[in-house]
Amino acid sequence: MEKLRLGVNIDHVATVRNARGSAYPEPLRAALLAEQAGADGITAHLREDRRHISDADIEALAGALTVPLNFEMAATDEMQAIALRHKPHAVCIVPEKREERTTEGGLEVAQDENRLATFIAPLADAGCRVSIFIAADAPQIKAAHRIGAAVVELHTGAYCDAHAEGRFAARDAELERLREMAALAASLGLEVHAGHGLTYDTVQPIAAFPEVRELNIGHFLIGEAIFRGLEGAITEMRRLMDEVRG
Ligand code: PXP
Repeated sequence: MEKLRLGVNIDHVATVRNARGSAYPEPLRAALLAEQAGADGITAHLREDRRHISDADIEALAGALTVPLNFEMAATDEMQAIALRHKPHAVCIVPEKREERTTEGGLEVAQDENRLATFIAPLADAGCRVSIFIAADAPQIKAAHRIGAAVVELHTGAYCDAHAEGRFAARDAELERLREMAALAASLGLEVHAGHGLTYDTVQPIAAFPEVRELNIGHFLIGEAIFRGLEGAITEMRRLMDEVRG
């Protein structure tokens, strides 16, 4: 099986910084350390309300990273202009609601197909790999394919929540759905990524899907860094991913 890439999401370094309105901890420093620890890419979500990552963070990351930047954003004109200014390696389109604590579900692509097709075209023309963050749902995957996305990132949140809450039958059903939808997406020629809520306990069954090429993981790794350091937290995640890829 091909090596699975690990994208480290550094949003929550900015969450800690912003909790005190200080200049530290710096997301860029975390990103550079993550690179050294074996991250294959860095993911950052510039939210409309700038609750964690700031415009200056994106500027700094775009200028300093040696691994690809995966720029997560909502499908708004403001974010499109920022993406076109920086031309990151990848742009991941996510749904965004101001009142949510985190990205709660996947993007509704099927009902917004024409607008999204028009929205992503200039990003693809600028050389960005356009990824769409969606639920593991056949109509959404087919719609992402029709609008011309290169990548779909499957939302693993429901699977991880079911595991954390001890609802193991639901967890296994979610896992099966993710497995089938990863295969469907790959059969359409889409590159398959996955992420949201993954931990050491939940990563391996997802990492074992041969179609999945990249995982994006943030909150757990930044939390675990309190205990092991960022390098140790990432190294262990990398080890678990590699273990099941054989
Ligand atoms: N992938 C996408 C598209 C996301 O929006 C997020 C959360 O910002 C993640 C992956 C990472 O999720 P977590 O921080 O729960 O690992």
